[in-house]
Amino acid sequence: MVWKSSGPLKTCRLLLVALFLSQGTASSVLTVNGKTEDHFLDTLPGTQASLECAVQNHTRDEELLWYREKGRVDLKPGNKINISSVCVSSISEEDNGVNFTCRLQSDQTVSISVVLNVTFPPILSGNSTQTVEENNDVRLVCNVNSNPQAQMMWYKNNNVLVLEKDRHQIHQTSESFQLSITKVKKSDNGTYSCTASSSLKVESLDFHLVVKERGLRVPIEPIIAACVVVFLTLCFGLLTRRKRIMKLCIKEKDLRNSETAL
Ligand SMILES: *[C@@H]1O[C@H](CO)[C@@H](O)[C@H](O)[C@H]1NC(C)=O
Ligand SMILES: *[C@@H]1O[C@H](CO)[C@@H](O)[C@H](O)[C@H]1NC(C)=O
Ligand SMILES: *[C@@H]1O[C@H](CO)[C@@H](O)[C@H](O)[C@H]1NC(C)=O
Ligand SMILES: *[C@@H]1O[C@H](CO)[C@@H](O)[C@H](O)[C@H]1NC(C)=O
Ligand SMILES: *[C@@H]1O[C@H](CO)[C@@H](O)[C@H](O)[C@H]1NC(C)=O
Ligand SMILES: *[C@@H]1O[C@H](CO)[C@@H](O)[C@H](O)[C@H]1NC(C)=O
Repeated sequence: MVWKSSGPLKTCRLLLVALFLSQGTASSVLTVNGKTEDHFLDTLPGTQASLECAVQNHTRDEELLWYREKGRVDLKPGNKINISSVCVSSISEEDNGVNFTCRLQSDQTVSISVVLNVTFPPILSGNSTQTVEENNDVRLVCNVNSNPQAQMMWYKNNNVLVLEKDRHQIHQTSESFQLSITKVKKSDNGTYSCTASSSLKVESLDFHLVVKERGLRVPIEPIIAACVVVFLTLCFGLLTRRKRIMKLCIKEKDLRNSETAL
């Protein structure tokens, strides 16, 4: 019966504590490099960026957590309470768009994020030479990475590529610029250039498309079938002959046995 009277009291105390705790943290604010809102940080490859997270309007020690995307950043013991800095050294093109988040350990809904905005000229890559047989389909894939985004174009032998509605198709994603040609003709042979123009630079990459004449097609299936038949025949032949060979051996053995017995 004791618990009945202390029950409501306990809940009341718990509620009060919870209220106090939530008030203590709800008014806490995080800043990164002095900003209270999520923001982009403009940087260049090869440089480094320092991110300083600080808690404000707090009433006690507040532990801070840093995340790079979904992964916790290991912080040194002296770099956790009330204020915490991370340094992103030797920034590369791959760091563009990477998200850094600082959180309150005591209430992880309180957080602030910084997204790196790494500016760099277009970087192009792809298979420089492709060989295709006449009448087959081919796809030239020009991988592109650029910030700001680049305007993409295909050229053929240094002229703007004139697209044929039925045979040429262009497909663009955030990472690549692709040219598909169906039923390749001899006249498609040539050098195709993928060109990326950003406000920083115009970059170009050559793709050599070599169209081979349709060779004499050797029908491969009948050849395999014929080989199998020949092989099986040989096997059967050997089997039957083996029996005979064994018979001969036994006969010889018998002869030799009789010889030694003499
Ligand atoms: C933090 O405290 C300052 C003054 O100390 C006050 O102006 C501000 O409104 C507080 N911020 C929050 C979110 O409570
Ligand atoms: C963190 O901030 C609280 C409140 O301002 C303060 O009492 C405490 O000493 C600070 N702790 C450190 C390690 O600076
Ligand atoms: C950064 O990541 C945090 C946590 O995953 C997310 O809440 C926030 O929206 C992200 N910000 C951007 C700009 O992607
Ligand atoms: C990234 O930086 C470039 C160059 O400084 C700027 O033009 C662009 O607006 C920035 N992008 C964002 C999302 O802040
Ligand atoms: C380049 O072409 C070769 C042969 O066609 C292929 O095996 C390889 O995966 C291609 N590489 C890329 C990056 O597309
Ligand atoms: C086909 O294109 C390649 C690559 O541009 C070039 O080297 C070659 O001379 C061309 N061949 C013919 C027959 O036009």
